[in-house]
Amino acid sequence: MTAAWTLDLPDAEATRRLGQALGRALRPGLVVALEGDLGAGKTALTKAAIAALGQVEEDDVVSPTFVIAAEYPGTREVLHVDAYRLAGPGAFVDLGFGPLEACARAVIIEWADRVAAALPGDRLTVRLAHADPGRRATLEASGPSSTAALEAVRAAL
Ligand SMILES: Nc1ncnc2c1ncn2[C@@H]1O[C@H](COP(=O)(O)OP(=O)(O)OP(=O)(O)O)[C@@H](O)[C@H]1O
Ligand SMILES: [Mg+2]
Repeated sequence: MTAAWTLDLPDAEATRRLGQALGRALRPGLVVALEGDLGAGKTALTKAAIAALGQVEEDDVVSPTFVIAAEYPGTREVLHVDAYRLAGPGAFVDLGFGPLEACARAVIIEWADRVAAALPGDRLTVRLAHADPGRRATLEASGPSSTAALEAVRAAL
């Protein structure tokens, strides 16, 4: 089961709106796999998603590149992971991430392609690419939880 949706994000505000819709679609156990080059907007999207849960300000959500993971309280607790500095899926599992399906939180992972083998099959992949103007996002669902999330995001935008 795979469903995909592509949308243009002409400016940073469009990324924020997508992030807000994503935040409202987060559920415990949902894994959001963010892919895209340096500066593609993965952290910007995550800031808006976490702030949309209403417990923290967008400015308080920072890139976890060096701390690897950051936790945020909220009605649906979120773990924000950055795999940029991890050697691969083995390092991800060694840090205690997995099995993410059983996680009581939603998990958003930047550079998820680096640890894809350690991620559940049912995940919402969000690919961000530089475009003119701005960015292009492709959202891909691969199971029941991620399909529900994708439908919720689409319905909200
Ligand atoms: N749709 C857009 N159009 C133009 N600029 C955007 C858009 N979305 C985000 N940006 C801007 O892109 C910049 C880089 O974003 P961000 O730090 O989120 O990237 P990243 O993918 O997390 O990068 P890294 O891999 O280095 O962590 C930010 O200044 C952000 O405001
Ligand atoms: Mg980032």
